Amino acid sequence: MPAAAAVSSASLTFADVVAAAEVVAAELPVTPLQAHPLLDLALAEPGVGDRAPLAGPVLLKHEHVLPTGSFKVRGGVHLAARLRPAERRHGLVTCSTGNHAQSVAYGARLAGVRATIVMPSTAPAVKRDAVAALGAEVVVAGASLGEAGAHARRLAAESGGAFVCPTDPRIVLGHATAYLELFGQEPGLAAVLVPVGSGTGAAGACVVRDALAPGCRVVGVQSAAAPAGWRSWRAGRIEQAAAATRASGLATTTGYPLTQEVLRGRLDDFVLVDDDAIDAAARLLATRAHTLAEGAGAAALAGLVALGGAVAERPGPVAVMCTGANASADEIARLAA
Ligand SMILES: Cc1ncc(COP(=O)(O)O)c(C=O)c1O
Repeated sequence: MPAAAAVSSASLTFADVVAAAEVVAAELPVTPLQAHPLLDLALAEPGVGDRAPLAGPVLLKHEHVLPTGSFKVRGGVHLAARLRPAERRHGLVTCSTGNHAQSVAYGARLAGVRATIVMPSTAPAVKRDAVAALGAEVVVAGASLGEAGAHARRLAAESGGAFVCPTDPRIVLGHATAYLELFGQEPGLAAVLVPVGSGTGAAGACVVRDALAPGCRVVGVQSAAAPAGWRSWRAGRIEQAAAATRASGLATTTGYPLTQEVLRGRLDDFVLVDDDAIDAAARLLATRAHTLAEGAGAAALAGLVALGGAVAERPGPVAVMCTGANASADEIARLAA
């Protein structure tokens, strides 16, 4: 997206993450990092992971327990504290399939500014309702996130509102605070798996890992049914791809310049998983880790099931980011499949 293309990844420093963490910690609790022995047992069963066995326990970072039900609220809270005068005056306009939407709505409410969120018609109704419940105006436009984004930019231009790119550096820095917490909670991680849509979480993970835990691998996981970020990373240039995934949080249709710039040299691995594998991971979380995750929130575990022991190059615990709990009724019904 053009707004992000103008910003360099040099604006995403570890010192900025530390400063963001002060803002975020004043509003949000530290999320638990928990071992789930029953999940470890399930992952060791033949047929669950096809690859070499894991050489350490799995630790789940429970980001879904935050207000709004996803890690994205970190970005909204940080954004709220760093608003520019024009943004305060004219309000915010953004586009999202749901969790970035709730995050900006949450931040706007904190800061007392107006927020208009353009959501594609494919966004789950429960996420639209949640955004409205936070006091933001919801506009449904377009069938994909790309189309909703184009509409949001037009709306911002017409209304004078400030368009907030989902990869705005203030948002990426907010998301990165999850990894400051993570490496503080467990400095000896061998790897961390991060679900990727626009790539803010994975970019934040790389920035913090480089400063605090250079031996830990950061592994991105994306749905094979929405592979724009993965393709962009592999090609070394921004690519587009249709998004047909059932995991709405991962339904991006383009690589994003700012986050791709970070991921290009620093992400250790990036795997695609299909939507059935994401559903299976959500079932594991529900039955083995008392955790209700939406598809995007279960994707990192699906990546771990696919990679097995190949996820890490040394023994040690592996962190799996459970990033969101806003499961639609369909996602909850599929848990029983
Ligand atoms: C629950 C959840 N997990 C992961 C992601 C992917 O995050 P990002 O777009 O920062 O890559 C999203 C994006 O909305 C999400 O909602």
